[in-house]
Amino acid sequence: MARRKQRIPVKSDANLKKMRLACSLTARALQIAADAVKPGITTLELDSILTEFVIAENAIPAFYNYHGYPANACISVNEEVIHGIPGNRQLNSGDIVSVDFGVIIDGYYGDAARTFRVGAVPDDIDKLVNITEQSFYEACKVIKAGIRLGDISHTIQTFCESYGYGIVRDYVGHGIGSNLHEPPQIPNFGKPGTGPIIPAGATLAIEPMVTMGDFRVRVLDDGWTVVTRDGLPSAHYENTVLVTVKGCKILTKI
Ligand code: MF3
Ligand code: CO
Repeated sequence: MARRKQRIPVKSDANLKKMRLACSLTARALQIAADAVKPGITTLELDSILTEFVIAENAIPAFYNYHGYPANACISVNEEVIHGIPGNRQLNSGDIVSVDFGVIIDGYYGDAARTFRVGAVPDDIDKLVNITEQSFYEACKVIKAGIRLGDISHTIQTFCESYGYGIVRDYVGHGIGSNLHEPPQIPNFGKPGTGPIIPAGATLAIEPMVTMGDFRVRVLDDGWTVVTRDGLPSAHYENTVLVTVKGCKILTKI
């Protein structure tokens, strides 16, 4: 029964052309957010900067109203892991802020996330952010047509856990294309050599969510914001990639 669900869609060249546009605009938007992050800015101001930029480019923010999500970006500070709702919270020096954003162009999606440092952050938190980003690149190194899904999951898990970090279990990466979420689900933990074979032409959102302490999370009363149970910081890094016979092409880059 799970078999049909796990069938991994592949994209035509015409589809990919649209995805490349959506993905590169997503990357450019996140670069603008990166430049805007500084002490005193609110998370809602960051959301507005992203939104205004992509609307001026005739793209649609992808998350607004997705399953009822009430904003355009997900902006998560410190112990917030993902799905933080932008609001009047001001960023402080020493915070880390994860900005997750996606757009739709011509029916196709891009999705990416970065964790930014606000001013100077303590060394241990700086390392968490670095390793989270690096875990994505470790996954990218093993990705090519013919590997199994579990190879991606296992690579991210073992890399992050070797530093003593936790891997969030309750939320996962995903296929992406003419929907924000398509098969397969891509856990950041798993066994090598297991799961479906990834074909050339698959487009995947790989998104490690990594915690400084315990991996367990809970959802706040706002119904969205996912936080670590132990209150320790968490980082998130995500790119939309294209799987080829040669390897992994990052689409959400400038
Ligand atoms: N990047 C997120 C994901 O991959 C999208 C946020 S879901 C939303 O699932 F509902 F908050 F929009
Ligand atoms: Co995603």
